[in-house]
Amino acid sequence: MKIAVIGMNGKMGREIVNILKENNYEFFGISKEDDFNIYKNADVLIEFTNREANIEHIKVVLNEPRKYIIGTTGFSEEDLKIIKKLSEKTAVFLSYNFAYGLNALLSSIPMLYKKLIDYDVALYEIHHKFKKDRPSGTSKMILNKLKEVHNNLNLDVQAFRIGGIFGEHVIMFANEGEVIEIKHKALSRRVFALGVLKAIEFIKDKEVGLFNMEDLMR
Ligand SMILES: NC(=O)c1ccc[n+]([C@@H]2O[C@H](COP(=O)([O-])OP(=O)(O)OC[C@H]3O[C@@H](n4cnc5c(N)ncnc54)[C@H](OP(=O)(O)O)[C@@H]3O)[C@@H](O)[C@H]2O)c1
Repeated sequence: MKIAVIGMNGKMGREIVNILKENNYEFFGISKEDDFNIYKNADVLIEFTNREANIEHIKVVLNEPRKYIIGTTGFSEEDLKIIKKLSEKTAVFLSYNFAYGLNALLSSIPMLYKKLIDYDVALYEIHHKFKKDRPSGTSKMILNKLKEVHNNLNLDVQAFRIGGIFGEHVIMFANEGEVIEIKHKALSRRVFALGVLKAIEFIKDKEVGLFNMEDLMR
């Protein structure tokens, strides 16, 4: 299995390259300067770049599909349709957050919220100042989990962009008597790269379909 890391010089790209080296995977990088068509030399593509570049790449890959692990965030509904189209031709793994613990937390949100349905809810997140999208993909995932319980929930997610913070998300439930705060904090970008390793192992035997961390954790 040969892997291509698209955006290998970025913050996440570098982290993924390190972890692939440590685990003896065969891989090569694709940067902005390369002819993107070299992707055809890979069996699995991994991309953490930006919304625009990632969608352009997917449109190219649709013609000659390869398995695709997507970590980029900020996609629109229209973009997601294009990703879905690719997943009808090959296996695609899409997650806005590859941290294992965060995904374990996600799955428990509906269960908790069902019991706290009368409580007020708030959600805020803090990321480094270079992060382009807001709210974060993770906030959208948390919001979707809350909406599984309360379809009309109207939450104004507060997104702070300061310093070098890798990613922090806080969900608060409160009534007049008590406050429950659930916080997830990524301590390094390595935690996301470790999730990508799991995704590689998960996707390598899949032929078609759109998968995420929930599928991997089942
Ligand atoms: N899913 C997750 O768990 C997770 C975790 C962290 C981050 N993310 C997301 O991952 C994405 C990247 O984050 P980051 O912090 O690594 O950003 P970053 O440091 O800015 O890295 C992005 C990289 O993509 C490169 N790039 C841009 N256009 C390209 C193209 N057409 N072909 C090849 N490479 C291209 C950039 O090159 P130049 O510098 O030359 O422009 C840069 O090296 C963001 O969407 C972020 O939100 C997701």
